[in-house]
Amino acid sequence: MSFDLVLFGGTGDLAWRKLMPALFQAFRHGTLPEGGRIIGIGRDDLSAEQYQTLIQQRFDKVDLAKRPSAEEFARFAAMLDFVRVDLSKPEDFAKLASTIKARNADTVVVYLATAPSFFTTACEQLAAAGLNNARTRIVLEKPLGNDLASNRAINHTVRQFFEEKQIFRIDHYLGKPAVQNLFALRFGNSLFEPLWRREHIANIQITIAEDLGVEKRGAFYETTGAVRDMVQNHALQLLCAIAMEPPINSHADAIRDEKLKVLRSLKPWTQESLAQDVVRGQYASGTIDGVKVPGYREELGVSPQSNTETFVALRTEIANWRWAGVPFYIRTGKRLAGRDARIVINFRPTPHAIFNSQVDVGNRLVINLQPKDGLELHLLAQGQSNRESKADPAHSLAPVQLDLDFDKRFGSERVGAYERLLLDVISDRLNLFVRSDEQEEAWRWVEPMLNFWARDTQGMRPYAAGTWGPSASSAMIARDGYCWSEES
Ligand code: BG6
Repeated sequence: MSFDLVLFGGTGDLAWRKLMPALFQAFRHGTLPEGGRIIGIGRDDLSAEQYQTLIQQRFDKVDLAKRPSAEEFARFAAMLDFVRVDLSKPEDFAKLASTIKARNADTVVVYLATAPSFFTTACEQLAAAGLNNARTRIVLEKPLGNDLASNRAINHTVRQFFEEKQIFRIDHYLGKPAVQNLFALRFGNSLFEPLWRREHIANIQITIAEDLGVEKRGAFYETTGAVRDMVQNHALQLLCAIAMEPPINSHADAIRDEKLKVLRSLKPWTQESLAQDVVRGQYASGTIDGVKVPGYREELGVSPQSNTETFVALRTEIANWRWAGVPFYIRTGKRLAGRDARIVINFRPTPHAIFNSQVDVGNRLVINLQPKDGLELHLLAQGQSNRESKADPAHSLAPVQLDLDFDKRFGSERVGAYERLLLDVISDRLNLFVRSDEQEEAWRWVEPMLNFWARDTQGMRPYAAGTWGPSASSAMIARDGYCWSEES
């Protein structure tokens, strides 16, 4: 199957950091379909050779294990072309169209790795140049809007020119191997399903912690913040994967229908819950790995009076038969104590204790997303021998852990998120992409938080870089009698 991958933003940050390295990995793994061409699009006047040199420079900076040899790069570079396009010039789109038509590939993937403000013009111009036919798929990167209205406007525009089945909205968390494994755990195994409900689960915690700050993206982050950047998309998609009902099959719409139901069942916010169940914070200077780092307000492109949240912790519930009354806690932030993304399922304790040391904690399943990718099952066992134990040994329990390390088990076979998602677009698999109604529902749910904060200038809590966020986040969860997993 031949394909053309047309990469708007071909010299931009995302192409540079994620897309080109992912395409090369797919090429190296032999999974990129043969007969492909990658056309970088940008405003610079570059020849194909100059573009190839630019990409080669990029590859000189990736990890050694992922870096191509000279011979590998030469073969990969043979796929790379470049077309200069100024989005305001129809003649540039006509030139692009003739480059594409000359080759007549089976599939044309147009990836808009640009700011969303360009989406409308890009779609209009693509359609005017006849580049929206049935062979074409369009890939949209987040952020898709800044609120519900702008998200709807983008979706409306794109749908004027492309059918929903041609639109691939990326949430790269859905491409992470650990998220694939979460679907496999829930719907490829029967073990946990009978326990996966309110009768057996006490609470669920989703943490996406980063130790990095806003890096060079201060200006972008100022108008974004943690809710728009991480909660509206990545965290809610993880919540859907945890809470959704088993889909009737593995088709994209069957999966997306179930995720949509979860989003629609999220407990609506009230003024009271917005005040009590959401904590927002902003990092102050601190120490990460022994190195002093500046506070958010000192970052490049950030206002010294900024009121943008770099941390959010919240409590919600899913109002349906499976989950009613079970708290779901979501927490994400920059400059936290480590890079650590995980989902913790805390099961209820036994109804009656017969062992001396039996503490009032239940079993725990931890789904590690990163940096480690795997599963931990925490149980209690009799670990002490008669000689070691002073108390009645036959009645003492100790925590033990079953550990599944997927990196170790699957090693180099593992496929990175962008690699997986790019291959899916080329092969027309929509399962791991977000439908417009899911996205709109997620915006509808986060918007009251953003509106509440716009009126409440007092609620921002500073936290030192290198910690787990403001103490109010621990206090929020302690009100329910629980604690964050790293505190237990
Ligand atoms: C992006 C956010 O979507 O996800 C970034 O815009 C964030 O701010 C990144 O750093 C985190 O992704 P990952 O894969 O590194 O956890």
